[in-house]
Amino acid sequence: GLDVGKVYDKTGVFTYDPGFSSTCSTKSAITYIDGDQGILLYRGYPVAQLAEHCSFLEVAYLILNGELPKGQELQNFDSSIRKHTMINENLNRFFEGFNYDAHPMAMLTGVVGSLSAFYHDTTNNKDPRHREIFAHRMIAKIPTIAAAAYKKYYGQPFMYPQNHLDYCSNLLHMMFAVPAEPYHVNPIAAKALDILFTLHADHEQNASTSTVRMAGSTGTNPYAAIAAGIAALWGPSHGGANEAVLTMLDEIGDVKNVQGFMDKVKDKNSGVRLMGFGHRVYKNFDPRATIIREQCHKVLQALKVDDPKLELAMKLEEIALSDDYFKARKLYPNVDFYSGIIYKALGIPVNMFTPMFAVARTVGWVAHWIEMVSDPAMRIARPRQVYTGAAERTVSPIAQR
Ligand code: ACO
Repeated sequence: GLDVGKVYDKTGVFTYDPGFSSTCSTKSAITYIDGDQGILLYRGYPVAQLAEHCSFLEVAYLILNGELPKGQELQNFDSSIRKHTMINENLNRFFEGFNYDAHPMAMLTGVVGSLSAFYHDTTNNKDPRHREIFAHRMIAKIPTIAAAAYKKYYGQPFMYPQNHLDYCSNLLHMMFAVPAEPYHVNPIAAKALDILFTLHADHEQNASTSTVRMAGSTGTNPYAAIAAGIAALWGPSHGGANEAVLTMLDEIGDVKNVQGFMDKVKDKNSGVRLMGFGHRVYKNFDPRATIIREQCHKVLQALKVDDPKLELAMKLEEIALSDDYFKARKLYPNVDFYSGIIYKALGIPVNMFTPMFAVARTVGWVAHWIEMVSDPAMRIARPRQVYTGAAERTVSPIAQR
């Protein structure tokens, strides 16, 4: 009957905290969240100000280095990222082995893990130059790998990175351009993606970041640790929620079905949740959701997209926010409630939503790995358990069982 608390066992006293609702696994100077007030700061700066005034690469520099870059610092960082966008041709061929219908997240997990077979120089965690080159390679190559996964899924030839383009335009180009046909990235689309990436760049000890830290705490190759984080992000309770929101809106189909759907959500036996609602830490509006909601209207208007899903999402939000079930449990829209609608307006297919999240969150994963391995007090992460199995007993040989 123990939900959470102290556990006394023959071997010592432990805290029992399934889901780690009240356990801090580390100290960190990267991101601050106040879930009751709906505050999110990267290195002390409010996320809304960063989204308004900075590019995603400036934010990436801030998250990695602790300070916003000055002109030359940004230029150096930007050229280093552009320099590392290519992936080894042998790695490109890994995609051939996947079935045509492989989920892009499956390909991303596998191929990012395989980077560890290409870069042996980053296994020395103690050398800051090695840590930096790992960070730059990872941030530069993840869009190339994500775009290749998209191309594989659609059976189109891969497009090489165009390094004269900025980070998000390059990603859109690698996804949507085809050989021998001119393709111009829409600056509205690139800007919207850039803002979404800033909002997704880090979120302290979420499941995927904690996974990267846990894997990394063993001293494993850092690319393998990032692959572990990508696997954790995939689930619908975490990064997979943006995909799940769109699937849910498809299932509801029409505004007239919203009330019936909400009744199902409130019926505990149905197993149905309102995807894109609720958060472990935010018990108020997720500040990222507020910005994305506003962006969503702007982007749809600017791209002249008339998507009935937006109307449906707004109706769901309106009903949920005035409903006692949601009020009592402090369930508000999270970052993923609206992000899928923007991705859809940009022409990004549903199964690429979570890979997009992975591209942005790579910055946070890398920064947390660096923070962890730079700490001389780093120890392997090794939680304990409450044993509920059989008491000690004697083995009988098979003939006597
Ligand atoms: N719809 C309906 N009820 C919900 C929802 C939801 N989306 N989320 C939580 N609840 C209810 C639970 O049933 C529970 O009710 P009870 O107290 O009567 O048993 C109560 O609210 C608390 O929920 P928990 O599951 O204990 O909350 P937890 O902190 O463990 O889970 C989570 C957080 C996983 C995000 C949850 O709210 C959820 O499943 N949301 C939908 C999926 C989603 O949008 N995930 C994205 C999260 S943001 C991100 O990763 C980027």
